[in-house]
Amino acid sequence: MVPINRIFLNEDPEHEIALMAKIDPPFRAVEIGFGNGEFLEHVASANPEGVFFGIEVSLQCVMKTVKRIQNSGCENARVLLGDARFLLGECFPPEWLHSVYMNFPCPWPKTRHAKRRVTFSGFTEVLAGSLVKGGIFELLTDDRIYAEEVARVIPAHPALVMEKMYLNPERDIQTKYERRWREQGKEIFLLRFRKNTPFFSGRRKREEEELHSNIERQCPTLARIQSLAGIERGEQSCRWVFKDSYMSSSGVMLLETITSDEGFRQSFFIRIVPRKNGCLVKMDAPSRPFRTPAVVMAFEKLVEDLRDETI
Ligand SMILES: C[S@@+](CC[C@H](N)C(=O)[O-])C[C@H]1O[C@@H](n2cnc3c(N)ncnc32)[C@H](O)[C@@H]1O
Repeated sequence: MVPINRIFLNEDPEHEIALMAKIDPPFRAVEIGFGNGEFLEHVASANPEGVFFGIEVSLQCVMKTVKRIQNSGCENARVLLGDARFLLGECFPPEWLHSVYMNFPCPWPKTRHAKRRVTFSGFTEVLAGSLVKGGIFELLTDDRIYAEEVARVIPAHPALVMEKMYLNPERDIQTKYERRWREQGKEIFLLRFRKNTPFFSGRRKREEEELHSNIERQCPTLARIQSLAGIERGEQSCRWVFKDSYMSSSGVMLLETITSDEGFRQSFFIRIVPRKNGCLVKMDAPSRPFRTPAVVMAFEKLVEDLRDETI
């Protein structure tokens, strides 16, 4: 097996996972929101023939978990920093995972925060596209209303069925939040879903569809690109802003861009490369943002502005 215990920190998770896909371990699973990493370490150690990926938005949790996994000597766990709503669909081969686990996701009870719930309907599509036929999604929560919502939302997808909802299940491992809620006498709900028909989400392959565009008019000046600074667009759930821009001695310009999709923030550069008859606009390779709707919209907005003959 390839050396593991690596944090990707978005350096190139797709490449790493592609390597894994070649090795094709017999069991492949993801834990979303692993917190202090107890469950990830436990399932990985208990199943040495499999590979277990953890996805977590909190850098502090990622750092703690990496230490935990390194100290345990467990060699088949890997950790990704980022938002699972996007990483699950972006990083893993389609229909590849046997299990996805979620232990006590933040329920985001307020209606205006509903889209931040990992289990919002867009996620269901991504989940169904990631699981193999027969694959399992397991979710634990202490919140009855949330459990009932998940029991409604997930099987609304034609490929997913609910197998069972267990009350106060006994498992080999309790997570930090599980211990906390049990000590407070709360009820715990375990929901198990199965993908029972093939489903391919039609997720686009980023490498095949790099964002780039040729502008066939005079290459903009740095002052023109700088004038975009502060332009902020989008809706509440999907926004972007253009910030500072820079020019190299060879005339290549970089425009700093910040995007937010449902609160998932990315910061990257768009590159404007002078050409004989205009310029090429493309994503700056080292920044490599995940190709979320806000990233695509920011890119398209820039291209539209640069093509606008009236400016
Ligand atoms: C309530 S804690 C539960 C932690 C752990 N699973 C446990 O049971 O002790 C929820 C965890 O999910 C993480 N989280 C929330 N939204 C996430 C998302 N969209 N992607 C990845 N992790 C997320 C949070 O940072 C937090 O660590």
